Amino acid sequence: MIPESFKQDLLNRVDIVEVVSRYVRLKKGGANYLGLCPFHGEKTPSFTVSPTKQFYHCFGCGAHGNAIGFLMSYAGLGYVEAVKELAASAGMQVPEAAPRTREEALRRERETDLYGVMENAMEFYRAELKKSPRAIEYLKGRGLTGEIAARFRLGYAPDDWQALKAAFADYADKALVECGLVIEGEGKRYDRFRDRIMFPIFSARGAVIGFGGRVLGAGEPKYLNSPETPLFEKGREVYGLVQARAAIRAANRVLVVEGYMDVVALAQFGVGYAVATLGTATTPVHVSKLLRLADELVFCFDGDAAGRKAAWRALEVSLPLVTDAKPVRFLFLPEAEDPDSYVRAHGRDAFERAVGEAQPLSAFLLGQLRAQVELGTPEGRSRFLSAAKPYVQALAAPALRLQVAKEVAALAGVSQEEAERLMELRSGPIYAKPVPARGAPPLTVAQERNLLRCVLARPALAAELDRSLLDERLPETGALQALTAWIGTGGAANEAAVIERFQGTEFEQIVFQAQASLLEHGPDGDSAEHQFRQCQLALRIKRKNEEYEQLKRRAASGQPTRELLVELDRRARELAELKGQRL
Ligand code: GTP
Ligand code: MN
Repeated sequence: MIPESFKQDLLNRVDIVEVVSRYVRLKKGGANYLGLCPFHGEKTPSFTVSPTKQFYHCFGCGAHGNAIGFLMSYAGLGYVEAVKELAASAGMQVPEAAPRTREEALRRERETDLYGVMENAMEFYRAELKKSPRAIEYLKGRGLTGEIAARFRLGYAPDDWQALKAAFADYADKALVECGLVIEGEGKRYDRFRDRIMFPIFSARGAVIGFGGRVLGAGEPKYLNSPETPLFEKGREVYGLVQARAAIRAANRVLVVEGYMDVVALAQFGVGYAVATLGTATTPVHVSKLLRLADELVFCFDGDAAGRKAAWRALEVSLPLVTDAKPVRFLFLPEAEDPDSYVRAHGRDAFERAVGEAQPLSAFLLGQLRAQVELGTPEGRSRFLSAAKPYVQALAAPALRLQVAKEVAALAGVSQEEAERLMELRSGPIYAKPVPARGAPPLTVAQERNLLRCVLARPALAAELDRSLLDERLPETGALQALTAWIGTGGAANEAAVIERFQGTEFEQIVFQAQASLLEHGPDGDSAEHQFRQCQLALRIKRKNEEYEQLKRRAASGQPTRELLVELDRRARELAELKGQRL
């Protein structure tokens, strides 16, 4: 947990324009900076970075965030990683919550050491590769140049039970075992990796966290991977991300393949946007991490039974994560081919053409489902419907879900309505529209939205907000209440902090939209103050008028009492006075 106050300090200290310009070419345009959006393809710049508000917004694709969010989306860093990265560049130290126990303090120190150990081992293996003609021959035989080997920091673990003794002063150090480099057994210690080509695995931040080691010829196991260690959690990491990042951005596409060699060979042939899962099944962490990096995710599997099975697993994991804007597709290579052999045999263009024609998720899903049943009989069609149900239910992208439901209905020979009822889609979370608390929402653009903009532009106005005037049915009201309450406790130092506060909450959309419109149309500073007062006055007049009309109706419906008439008169004057304050 990173303390709230530190995040605010950090966001105050860093300059988002400086952070973004490290990666995106920005040009000054008025009060803001403009550039080509790194999150979607475009020819004219709609990516806007505000130096005063400390956030970015793309008017093309809606990407929106502060400096932390930028690093997360752009570099694919996790939250904590992004904060650490920013802090380091601002010369700040992230205060770690004090270790609660002695063990925890020791473990943390250890972890810092472990990175050093892994780095040292990688450099050792790299140096050994240069000394081993046999290993160099092997890589050359697989068509790799020295340049690519250097880019992926490939190495060679010598054919020796304790080769790492040459790299570490203390071979008995426990850290070597903890890192998975050395195995301890029957009182003896020996290197895990011997006579293997070494593929270092990097974290998103570029630290070595594990290795994959391949035998040079035939042998078992073909690949030996680092075990899970304090640094290395297989289900979270992908191979080749650090090297692929720039190409992923340029192509706006990530390709997920099965093997280390596939990634390296594709890069050798100019297909730089491939990464590999590490001999494990695709996990939700993989998919959500990768979907952050590009608009298109393509899984590429070998054309065998194992490949199909792995693909189905990837599909199941992707269903709840795909959005209508970010499609997921599946490429199946011909039997007995993998990306490495395919690109070598057919070349880059043919491979990329195949990627371009990869099956959409919906086609793969429906194809597999219908292959399992006999659609010619009522029983088969019913089985089809019940088999499809959990998958269609899990599909998060609303438009795609609708399309798939339509196709399921057509294949099952029922109406769409019937299919949706049978699959219980209408009650699903996607179809359940938020129901306004009472009555229908008003048709005009609410003053509440203007008030929200004004408070964002000048947080001090929060103290003047009269909550009793707000229409509770509006989401803007909820956002305004949350915002002013937070400002009351010292929040909202700047708009970057506002993003931090509302990211991932139910008000995210509303608040981010209001921020974006501020960027374009204002108001700012004093004019926000003026607008705020006028809006609040307009609301007050509206409420008073409603009350007045109600009383008038009551008076007209029967014999009004004297008190009522006096009250009506008082209210009419009050209204006139309020209206007189309007500018
Ligand atoms: P090459 O034969 O070098 O072209 O490798 P490949 O990538 O074509 O290998 P394969 O398709 O057999 O395996 C794909 C991935 O599965 C590898 O990159 C490894 O991550 C993993 N893998 C393959 N063989 C083994 C093994 O014997 N043990 C373990 N733990 N993982 C393996
Ligand atoms: Mn292969």
